[in-house]
Amino acid sequence: MAKINDNYLKLKAGYLFPEIGRRVRAFAEANPSAKVIRLGIGDVTRPLAPAVLKAFHDAVDDLGTTDQFAGYGPEQGYDWLINAIIEKSYKPLGVSLCTSEMFISDGSKCDCANILDIFALDNVVAIGDPVYPVYNDTNVMIGRTGEANEKGYYENIVYMPCNEANNFIPALPTQKVDIIYLCFPNNPTGTVASKAELKKWVDYANANNAVIFFDAAYEAFITNPDIPHSIYEIEGAKKCAIEFRSFSKTAGFTGVRCGLVVVPEEVMGTTTTGEEYSFNKLWLRRTTTKFNGASYPVQRAAAAVYSDEGWKQTKEIIDYYMENARIIREGLKEAGVTCFGGVDAPYIWLKTPGNLTSWEFFDKLLNECNVVGTPGSGFGPSGEGYFRLSAFGHRENVIEAVGRIKKNLK
Ligand code: MLT
Repeated sequence: MAKINDNYLKLKAGYLFPEIGRRVRAFAEANPSAKVIRLGIGDVTRPLAPAVLKAFHDAVDDLGTTDQFAGYGPEQGYDWLINAIIEKSYKPLGVSLCTSEMFISDGSKCDCANILDIFALDNVVAIGDPVYPVYNDTNVMIGRTGEANEKGYYENIVYMPCNEANNFIPALPTQKVDIIYLCFPNNPTGTVASKAELKKWVDYANANNAVIFFDAAYEAFITNPDIPHSIYEIEGAKKCAIEFRSFSKTAGFTGVRCGLVVVPEEVMGTTTTGEEYSFNKLWLRRTTTKFNGASYPVQRAAAAVYSDEGWKQTKEIIDYYMENARIIREGLKEAGVTCFGGVDAPYIWLKTPGNLTSWEFFDKLLNECNVVGTPGSGFGPSGEGYFRLSAFGHRENVIEAVGRIKKNLK
C-alpha cells in the first residue's frame, strides 16, 4: 500500500472555517426559522466593482475571438498586470520593484503555503499566536514540526504571543529563527504595526540572515496615513522580506481568486554547502514548474482595479466595509465589550464578556443572537478568551447583528 504523509495526522483539528460552517449548518437545520447572520469567515459580500466586472466580461469575450484568444500565459503573470500593480500600489509608497520580482497567483492562501517549498525543512520558523491558521498548519503538513502539546503548540515552531500587553505585536524571538511570519494589518486581531515596529523586525532579520514572510492581504483597509502598507517601506526590507498580497478582500475576489507574491532579487538564502542562492530564482523555478498562471480573464479583471474608475470604485467598496467595522466596534463598546482592531482592518477582535471561553461565546452568540463569529482560540492558544467579528457583511445585517448583540449583553 502507498504510504500517506503522516504529518497530516499531527494536525489537531479540522481547518477552522469548515468546522464553524459545520456547526452553523447543524444549528440552522435544527432552527430553520432563525435568521442567522454570518460575520465569521472574512468573506466579502459586495459585488465586483463595475469597471472590474466589465474587464472580466470583455476578457471572456476575447477568448471567443481568434485575434484576442489567450492560451497559456506567462506562469508568473502578465506584465501589464504586474506593471500596473507596481505603478499604482508600490511606487506611491516610494517602493520600486522590477517586473521579475512580482508573481501573480490564484490567491494568497496558496502562496503562503507554497512558499515553504523553497525553504529547507530545518529552518526554524516563528509565527504569531493567535495567527492565520494556514501558517501553522502548512508547516505541520510539510513536516517541519513534531507533535502538538496539550496547549496546541507544535514542537519546532517558535510561537510569539500577541496580546493586549504587547499591543498584539509580537516581541522579537529570544532564540535565533530563520523564517518569521508577520501579518499586518493583522488577521485575526485587526491591529497594525508602525514603521518603527516593523523596522525592529527588518533589523532582526538582516542581523540573523532570516527571511520575513510579510502577509499584507489587508493593506488596502489601512486608514491611518502613518501606517505602512508594505514591508518594503522599511529600509533594508528588500534584503530580507517576501510580501504576499491578495485581491480577495481588496477587490472582492474571494471567489474569483488572484493574489501576488513579491520576492525581491536581493533576498538570499544558503545552500547546504554554504553558497548564497537567490530565493527569487527558486520561486520562479517553482512557479514555472508547478503553476500555469492565474487565468487570463481573472488577470484582466485584476488589472482593471488599477484603472482610474476601478480604483475609485474599489476604494468605495473598501470604505463600505470600514463603515461596517466602525458600526461593529462602536456598538460593541456601547455594550461594554472591550475590542481592538477595526480601524485599519476589517476585523474586530473582542474580549469575550463574562470570561467565557471563545467557543462558549461562539455558542452563546449563535444560540441567543443567531450571529456567527470566529472563536479566537481557533487562531491559537493566545486567542482563548477572544472572538473575531468580520466587517464584510451586508450593512443591514451588520446593523441587525450589532443590535441583537447589544440587546443580549445588556
Ligand atoms: C479569514 O476569515 O480569516 C479569511 O477569510 C481566511 C482566508 O483569507 O483564507
